[in-house]
Amino acid sequence: MNVVEVKHPLISHKMGLLRTHDISVKAFRELVSEIGSLLTFEATRDLPLEDTTTASWQGDITTQQLAGKKLTLVPILRAGLGLNEGVLSIIPCARVSVVGLYRNEETLEPVPYFEKLTSDLDKRVALVVDPMLATGGSMVATIDLLKKQGVKDIKAMVLVAAPEGIQALEEAHPDVTLYTASVDEKLNEQGYILPGLGDAGDKIFGTK
Ligand code: PRP
Ligand code: URA
Repeated sequence: MNVVEVKHPLISHKMGLLRTHDISVKAFRELVSEIGSLLTFEATRDLPLEDTTTASWQGDITTQQLAGKKLTLVPILRAGLGLNEGVLSIIPCARVSVVGLYRNEETLEPVPYFEKLTSDLDKRVALVVDPMLATGGSMVATIDLLKKQGVKDIKAMVLVAAPEGIQALEEAHPDVTLYTASVDEKLNEQGYILPGLGDAGDKIFGTK
């Protein structure tokens, strides 16, 4: 599996701010969205293009546009929703397929509770987003579900990835490329990423 840890001064700066203890819900949300936009720029670098004709001020010229059906963004509820705005700010025509999973706090196994997918999934690139890749269970289950629907071209995008989650994703889905702002050290006994962000969903939604 290809793992791209996206290195950019703006991402490093914003990730530092995001890790601040007692950060406000507003600041956390804004930073997640901004980092999401920056990662999307990298994750979409290889999207295919096709030639088209544009009526310009000097008559018809050949330009390029994204080829094929529109990409589907796949936020994993709940915390993945925090990345929607940032991704859609630069891919405004993307379709959104929502998958709801939560981690059982004892077993750390993903528990599915919702799915609403866009049509023609077999013809679209899917960009699966979640702030955290911890054990990898939620991402693996979401990609299992998308592959069952015929999706062939899948990219995963997270803010923080644990080595344990990367290994699990690699074993289950070696064809998927993972884009992340940071590969952190490890998981603690409760399955939280160290140093990580704490509970990303709670910080985005202001719950506890
Ligand atoms: C968090 C996070 C991921 C998952 C990562 O969601 O947003 O979806 O855990 O852990 P994993 O890699 O071990 O599966 P959580 O279950 O806390 O739900 P929430 O998004 O509703 O807060
Ligand atoms: N989910 C989170 O929100 N944070 C972690 O560190 C692991 C799973």
